[in-house]
Amino acid sequence: MRYLVTGGAGYVGGVVAAHLLAAGHRVTVLDDLSTGFREGVPEGAEFVEGNVRDAARWLDGSFDGVLHFAASSQVGESVLNPEKYWRNNVGGTIELLSAMRAAGVRTLVFSSTAAVYGEPATTPITEDARTAPTSPYGASKLAVDQMLAGECAAHGLAAVSLRYFNVAGAHGAQGERHDPESHLIPIVLQVAQGRREAISVYGTDYPTPDGTCVRDYIHVDDLAEAHLAALGAAVPGEHLVCNLGNGNGFSVREVIEAAREVTGHPIPEVAADRRAGDPAVLVASADRARERLGWRPSRPELAGIIADAWAFAQRKEGTS
Ligand SMILES: NC(=O)c1ccc[n+]([C@@H]2O[C@H](COP(=O)([O-])OP(=O)(O)OC[C@H]3O[C@@H](n4cnc5c(N)ncnc54)[C@H](O)[C@@H]3O)[C@@H](O)[C@H]2O)c1
Repeated sequence: MRYLVTGGAGYVGGVVAAHLLAAGHRVTVLDDLSTGFREGVPEGAEFVEGNVRDAARWLDGSFDGVLHFAASSQVGESVLNPEKYWRNNVGGTIELLSAMRAAGVRTLVFSSTAAVYGEPATTPITEDARTAPTSPYGASKLAVDQMLAGECAAHGLAAVSLRYFNVAGAHGAQGERHDPESHLIPIVLQVAQGRREAISVYGTDYPTPDGTCVRDYIHVDDLAEAHLAALGAAVPGEHLVCNLGNGNGFSVREVIEAAREVTGHPIPEVAADRRAGDPAVLVASADRARERLGWRPSRPELAGIIADAWAFAQRKEGTS
């Protein structure tokens, strides 16, 4: 099969592209390198440097489907610059869907996010939970989910929205490189590398066992396997929404402690104020992904996830 991977020079898209190639598919990556890296595109993939809103220039009937990762995804930036998020995430997807319609490409897997739920009323979070995003980033992703539901109903698209919880870990030389880095595990590992003095713990008085926020960390290779399963599970006319998480949570303190064990570094921490819009607990119910995608995570241990991220961080330091 031949797939277009938008955002395939980024962290998640690059790893999924590698899994598609390993499964014998042809991959074309479309990425404007706004936050991605040319070297993040796996060997064997065709690379097109361009914007997803111009997808019609490259998409034709030879493609069997699209995996759509290209987006702006910094929550804090989206609060300061919401128009960028509506333009890139929603506007870009409108153009991509038009291009797919014109080319007769009928299958789409989309990177949605747990941020669509906002502050959950109950945990673990199911796909039927109320959606109330607390940032323009989450709102833009929810708007795309709703757009896809309409596209499936009106035009027979087969679409799967995968709502990721916290993606972590690495696939060999492919790992997380956001700039500025905003994700907990890479930041903790920067402390272990001596690139930061300490890790700030935002909020130590949450109603959780140790007072710090609890999140659901999923290995990027498990996430990638779910994308391949989603391509097989997509049904014309249906918009399927699945959470992707392990279904268990780890607190910020547990992550730091596990990183100390993996790295052997003391990783000093500093207590800081809560950040606005940070829910206490975000843990996925992954039951639907198990049922509909036949998927289950095979790398759920936190220490293993951090060990892979650490190997990647050290490899990167050695080469940069
Ligand atoms: N990393 C996570 O924990 C996480 C969690 C939930 C959802 N997501 C979603 O998964 C997707 C991938 O996230 P990531 O962490 O790999 O981010 P990333 O920034 O590493 O990757 C995004 C890629 O998209 C490209 N891009 C952005 N706008 C583009 C455009 N208009 N045209 C072409 N390319 C464009 C960037 O250059 C980058 O390579 C995003 O849609 C993000 O919202 C990520």
